Amino acid sequence: MSSDPYGDRGNKDVSIANPRGGGSAEPVRGGGTATAAPGGPFLIGEAMTGGYGKGPDILHDCTISVDKGEIAVIVGPNGAGKSTAMKAVFGMLDLRAGNVRLNGEDITALSPQDRVAKGMGFVPQTNNIFASMTVEENLEMGAFIRTDDYSGTMEQIYDLFPILRDKRHQAAGELSGGQRQQVAVGRALMTQPKVLMLDEPTAGVSPIVMDELFDRIIDVARTGIPILMVEQNARQALEIADKGYVLVQGANAYSGTGKDLLADEDVRKSFLGG
Ligand SMILES: Nc1ncnc2c1ncn2[C@@H]1O[C@H](COP(=O)(O)OP(=O)(O)OP(=O)(O)O)[C@@H](O)[C@H]1O
Ligand SMILES: [Mg+2]
Repeated sequence: MSSDPYGDRGNKDVSIANPRGGGSAEPVRGGGTATAAPGGPFLIGEAMTGGYGKGPDILHDCTISVDKGEIAVIVGPNGAGKSTAMKAVFGMLDLRAGNVRLNGEDITALSPQDRVAKGMGFVPQTNNIFASMTVEENLEMGAFIRTDDYSGTMEQIYDLFPILRDKRHQAAGELSGGQRQQVAVGRALMTQPKVLMLDEPTAGVSPIVMDELFDRIIDVARTGIPILMVEQNARQALEIADKGYVLVQGANAYSGTGKDLLADEDVRKSFLGG
């Protein structure tokens, strides 16, 4: 990484590259207070409270957002509610309070399918591919809402992940962990989403494969798709993040630029291994 945290992304546009600069990570008091850009972030789950079915609340006044040109990263301990927050933003959870807005529109009441039609792509943490189908069939499934010719999009995905082109007739379940994650991300890209949500895209892969996946995620971000992702590899993820959130027990504990969170002593000690 260079000393310029944005240089590696080739993102020189000050309007989207932390114009304030510097600053320090802010412990969040009094609930969700993520910084909103003028007009509001492109995608935001704001002050979300809710849980599964009739069960207890898992999320407590939790706010996560991503703006155009950004990679936003959510970190936190196991069971903190990171996946639950992502599912809430994608509409897989009924919120008891709070709302979700996409490009200024309140989409809190929409089904996940309708959110996909509005431009959201989501790669869940588990069961994110069809193991018995070929790589190409997985990508075709991703294009389910499209009625136009999607062959160009498929070529773009094969250019992004060349190994998938080589293995396109192989069952996705026979691929390595890192390759399967590429299938999952590729499948989500088939709808040409306006924003991409990834839940632990580098789970269970080696450090080298993790670096490669992060590079491809940066490539996707460079094409103009904002990325909201959960990551267990917190330090590495915050290095490529414009913005980060630390969730603890379903609530915002810290938020700030990736750089601020990496520099924050409390965050380092408690969540980044010192
Ligand atoms: N489908 C579900 N039904 C009921 N409770 C659930 C369900 N999924 C998760 N939970 C509960 O919600 C809480 C938060 O889980 P969640 O999966 O969101 O955590 P996480 O931060 O993503 O953890 P991890 O780092 O292990 O992926 C946990 O207590 C979990 O038991
Ligand atoms: Mg999770």
